[in-house]
Amino acid sequence: MPMLPNTIQSGLDTWLERVEAIDDLKRIGAEVDPDLEMTTLAYLNGGRKGPALLFENIKGMPGQRALLNIHSSSISRLCITMGERPVAHPLEAIRMLQKKMQATLAPEDVDQGLALCNQNVVAGDKIDITKLAAPRFWPLDGGRYIGTANAVITQDPDTGRVNLGTYRMMIKGPREVGVYIIPGKDGALDRDKWWKRGKPVPIAAAVGINPALFLVAATSFPEGHNEYDHCGGILGAPVKIFQSDVTGLPLPADAEIIVEGFLYPGDEFLEGPFGEFCGYYGEAAKTPFFKIERLRYRSNPILTCAIVCDGAASDNSLMWGSSRAAATWSDLEKLGIAGIQGVWSVHEAAAGGFTVVSVKQMYPGHATQVMTLAAQCRGAALFGKYIIVVDHDIDPTDIHQVLWAMATRSRPAYSIDFLRDTWNTYTDPSINPRELRPFGSKCLINACMDYRFINTFPKRERLSQVSYERVAARWDEFGLGGSAPMVPVFEEADFPQTFNAAGGFS
Ligand SMILES: Cc1cc2nc3c(=O)[nH]c(=O)nc-3n(C[C@H](O)[C@H](O)[C@H](O)COP(=O)(O)O)c2cc1C
Repeated sequence: MPMLPNTIQSGLDTWLERVEAIDDLKRIGAEVDPDLEMTTLAYLNGGRKGPALLFENIKGMPGQRALLNIHSSSISRLCITMGERPVAHPLEAIRMLQKKMQATLAPEDVDQGLALCNQNVVAGDKIDITKLAAPRFWPLDGGRYIGTANAVITQDPDTGRVNLGTYRMMIKGPREVGVYIIPGKDGALDRDKWWKRGKPVPIAAAVGINPALFLVAATSFPEGHNEYDHCGGILGAPVKIFQSDVTGLPLPADAEIIVEGFLYPGDEFLEGPFGEFCGYYGEAAKTPFFKIERLRYRSNPILTCAIVCDGAASDNSLMWGSSRAAATWSDLEKLGIAGIQGVWSVHEAAAGGFTVVSVKQMYPGHATQVMTLAAQCRGAALFGKYIIVVDHDIDPTDIHQVLWAMATRSRPAYSIDFLRDTWNTYTDPSINPRELRPFGSKCLINACMDYRFINTFPKRERLSQVSYERVAARWDEFGLGGSAPMVPVFEEADFPQTFNAAGGFS
């Protein structure tokens, strides 16, 4: 295998350094089996909100590494993925992501000889992807998955628009790998256009990548947008790409591992089952696979993996939920809707099953307008089942406050609406038989104070800010440990003017 000079800095190396600097990375030097063991550790570690795990000693795979729990439920690691420092409140991260998702910066072409992934290039029958450290994630999975935290690259043959999507990839054989794409997603639209012309689809998949590329590949951007541009926009620096001499596709030069080839019309195999993001197995089904013509990898490469499951370990929940929340926030603002205080997708609810919008109500019907638009806007339309709108005094990231608002401000007989036949995914276990799953439904809950009575609605109990500050200042004296909990809202009709510094009322 030819060794080429390496002048491109690995984006993943930089990410690892930064995460390690905030003490949020664990290097696992003990031998771990890629068959179920890596993911067992990731499920247990992620479930208790542990650090990212870099496996450096993978059984039977010398010289290879794998990264799991990339984000799981860590807002701090998500901030680092965006090239930023960790922030104090989750909504700050969503606001940041929202702004960054609007920015674009075109990729920069580099010579293919400088690409990190071209340190090792394997062609044709010498390729054997079964030798890569691809995990079997769950006991009933149909095989080993090389692509989970990946970026599958395709191109629209009509417009030339390049697309990056995170689509799962099960190994079929040494040179064959499946690509499972939800109907309607860009990769599937591109694929079908090539096939309609009777041509094989040029396709590549970067399976060891900078998490920023994973973030954009797993995010739905408006039609015609190129995720490389968005990755550049998020990082504030262009993604370095080179043009493949095999497929003609632009490939990320700093990727750790790339496979590329062609997807021929009619080439399908029985793919799955796979432990999917809802926390249930997706059934085995006929799925297209592609023939690999090139395998490119850096020396000592890292395979980036995403475990998707119930609970805090799930590697798509926070990331996907965050981009869903950020996109929904943007869509509402672009529609000119005033008063949006924040959008949050409760990531424990299967990456978007439960989205909360907080709004400062300004006119009759405002809450209903927000709720219905948030349910069907581009950023939120797919899958999300419950859309809850709450008042501005409710922190949408605090599920306890949201449940309190639902219990005390909504009137179930009036406050709940449903949408039927909405955009859904085959991975939704609630709809059976499976063929019916592309059509879902949504529940919209208005948990705001009834605007008709907004001025006379019973006043909620809130602490006096003055009294809070006095208590907080003496916290140690009370022997309760730690520091005084933060309080988001105080009594607006507090009386600081009449409260004098000497501690009495004037
Ligand atoms: C970890 C993870 C795994 C995913 N797996 C798949 C998948 O197998 N197939 C799929 O169509 N979408 C999958 N998605 C969702 C897509 O990546 C997402 O819908 C994205 O918008 C697709 O890109 P596109 O909008 O350019 O088509 C996954 C997302 C994440 C975070």
